[in-house]
Amino acid sequence: MAMFEGKVALVTGAARGIGQAIAKKLAVEGCDVALCDLKAEWLAETVGLVEAAGRKVKCFEVDVSQAAAVDAAVSGVVEAFGKVDILVNNAGITKDTLMIRMSEQDWDAVLSVNLKGTFLFTKAVARPMMKQRSGAIVNVASIIGLIGNAGQCNYAASKAGVIALTKSAAKELAARNVRVNAVAPGFIQTRMTDVLPEDVRKKMLDLIPMSRFGQPEDVANVVLFLASDAASYMTGQVLPVCGGMVMQ
Ligand code: NAI
Repeated sequence: MAMFEGKVALVTGAARGIGQAIAKKLAVEGCDVALCDLKAEWLAETVGLVEAAGRKVKCFEVDVSQAAAVDAAVSGVVEAFGKVDILVNNAGITKDTLMIRMSEQDWDAVLSVNLKGTFLFTKAVARPMMKQRSGAIVNVASIIGLIGNAGQCNYAASKAGVIALTKSAAKELAARNVRVNAVAPGFIQTRMTDVLPEDVRKKMLDLIPMSRFGQPEDVANVVLFLASDAASYMTGQVLPVCGGMVMQ
């Protein structure tokens, strides 16, 4: 039997990159999947991947930083599928520049999507998950939230916040058998990193003991592990997926 037979998952930022890889793998392992992104039409490719795995799919047009839209999406998922077993908070953005040049808008935008968005979705699924006495939430943080990075103080703060939120929510929800964990990816090849200049990419590569950038599937595999019963005694944990770039 597939690992997630009969389960329902919700993935944010599922249109491309890491979120798309997570949605696809969840479907291949038996999940029906609700996909969220800023524009529903961006989700067409991911819809095809879920359907090709023979699973049900539903799309929600959601800006994760908007509470009303988040609540409506979670209600829509519960209405459509009857429950929600797994939430993956993956949607995230960067607006990189040195702190002395960073605008208030760039600070607010990154904190709103990465941190507030994770809070809003976690809060929205907490009630149905607590009621059903089971659930797994996996947050996509970043190693930058652990070690910081010049030019990314907004992003680093948002991801450190996601890690602290993960641990706090884990403590609040553990008694109801709802687990909350995080992955902390290193340098993963997606559109988010494709825009970085060649010299930055080269410098990054020098810092990775495994001497290669990660693929979205590398992250998806660990997300699936944390969402699965194989991790049934793990909560509040942060697993780096970074080719050894950060060793805890
Ligand atoms: P990406 O830019 O390829 O994909 C992000 C997805 O999130 C897009 O589909 C985008 O439309 C969606 N999104 C952005 N803002 C949104 C909002 N307000 N509401 C709903 N959806 C929104 O990025 P990638 O690389 O796949 O990143 C996914 C997650 O992984 C992010 O949280 C990112 O911070 C994290 N991460 C990525 C790393 C990398 O090297 N690519 C490293 C560490 C963490």
